[in-house]
Amino acid sequence: MEKEHLTVQEIDDILEKFGNGEAENQIRYGYSNKAVIKNITEKINQASKQVELIFSNIMLGEELNISALEKEILPIISQASEIPHIYHLFYELNKSEEYTYKHTIGVGIISLMIGKWLKLSEGELRELAMGATLHDIGKTRINPFILNKKGKLTKEEYEEVQLHTSYGYEILRKMDHLSDRVALVALHHHEREDGRGYPKGLEGNQIDLYSKIVAIADMFHAMLSRRAYQEPLTFYSALRQLQDHAFGKLDAKITLLFLYKLMDSIIGRSVMLSDGSIGKILMIDRYDPLRTLVQIKDQIIDLKLNRELNIEKVVNDE
Ligand SMILES: [Fe+2]
Repeated sequence: MEKEHLTVQEIDDILEKFGNGEAENQIRYGYSNKAVIKNITEKINQASKQVELIFSNIMLGEELNISALEKEILPIISQASEIPHIYHLFYELNKSEEYTYKHTIGVGIISLMIGKWLKLSEGELRELAMGATLHDIGKTRINPFILNKKGKLTKEEYEEVQLHTSYGYEILRKMDHLSDRVALVALHHHEREDGRGYPKGLEGNQIDLYSKIVAIADMFHAMLSRRAYQEPLTFYSALRQLQDHAFGKLDAKITLLFLYKLMDSIIGRSVMLSDGSIGKILMIDRYDPLRTLVQIKDQIIDLKLNRELNIEKVVNDE
């Protein structure tokens, strides 16, 4: 079991080492970069069509086309992961209905962002992006009826879905040019820190770093997306749910860094609080990133001291 909280020293260390968000804030949300977002959104749409093609070829029994992935898809994922307007990018991506292949690309982008915040090496980032993009490749062997089913799965159906992890590992392990760590992402991305994941029920340190990262990206992107059985959560409620999982399901340090960076990306934006008032996010507390300082007209509210108040949602004030 993971411990219940991080010490102040641990939080300081991780944000000292990986944080530095405040310095990047200056230019955010001037909306001068709308064209950049539009351009990358179009590229992502194309890339997800490519992924669809690659996946359907596997369903037809062909080999995984690694070079198409490397040449046409990973560069777009890499470019998207450089965009500082994270909130805005996800907002755009979320408008589309298609889930499976967008999800694949979305998980690639978020994982790569996290990998960069963790200052992984170029080689590690390449492996991570590859593993993240292929994490659900095993679903090509699962009955599509079950994958697209609306409503609750039966026990047998859920067991079949869980097999996508081992199927993915089998598919990727055989590939000559892929490292075993890439294949491990397919196998481990549903393992959880507290040992309650699948397929093996591994715990904490037994789970590879790439898989810990992809687990967070997978969960976050799924929460934001419209799926057969669920309406998307708002950006902020997805962050709140992730925070709830930070001690138990997910790696606490990486999740904290992720929350801090994403909250940092909405500094200056308008938010609606749970009492209906509209304010602007002023500052993020590194120890409690979701409890920010909010300015409402000429009043400043500290959500740490007003715990009955929550941010309800980010206002889409485009
Ligand atoms: Fe999965």
